[in-house]
Amino acid sequence: MHQKLDCLAKTGYVVLNDYRGPAIPSAEWESLEYMDWKSGGDTNFAPLASATGQMDCRGFWDHGKADKYGLWTSNRDIAPNLTRYVEEIGGNYGRVRVIKLNPSDEATALRQLHRDDNNRLNPEGTGWVVRSWLELDDTAGQSQFILREDKDDPSTETRITLHPGMQLLIDTERLWHVVWHPGPRPRYSLITSWETDKVIDHWIKRETRKDKAGSRQLLGARR
Ligand SMILES: [Fe+2]
Repeated sequence: MHQKLDCLAKTGYVVLNDYRGPAIPSAEWESLEYMDWKSGGDTNFAPLASATGQMDCRGFWDHGKADKYGLWTSNRDIAPNLTRYVEEIGGNYGRVRVIKLNPSDEATALRQLHRDDNNRLNPEGTGWVVRSWLELDDTAGQSQFILREDKDDPSTETRITLHPGMQLLIDTERLWHVVWHPGPRPRYSLITSWETDKVIDHWIKRETRKDKAGSRQLLGARR
């Protein structure tokens, strides 16, 4: 048995407050080195942290590691604000990467519903690994996270409309998931694997409080 968070027990996901930190210029995610890696659609991935620090999209298990204790890649120097975002959360991160998702139609997206393999080699008794998303661009009311408890049962489905600055935490080994992104431009999002522990529990509590004024413009100005 792994240690899991109570706040994820019921639904397997939590929508956090929008990001309110310093502005992150769009040049950070647009200038990263991307690799051709298909997962959940027509995708490319820019590794920011990998199992070894090399530019590598493979699972950490290929290197004998659980998806924790990620090491920064050379992309770190291109994206200091994205790196800071992860480091300031303060938890144990594994793979950290920016996804570039090209547009598709809904039927194509639904065929890509999948569950992640987040906990291979993760020792029993330690924290269950889940993933966070920070939506970067270009999802203003057009793109949806589609989540299902049962892949073949739409009645178990939740759809979350995405917008830049949105933060989500999802147990993607439990929930079938995919993003339907109609486009027309690619969608970018920062995805981080986290060991669920007290640090992440506190981060969720902090980022779901409703006591702050509305979010401000946070991500880079549009070109
Ligand atoms: Fe996934």
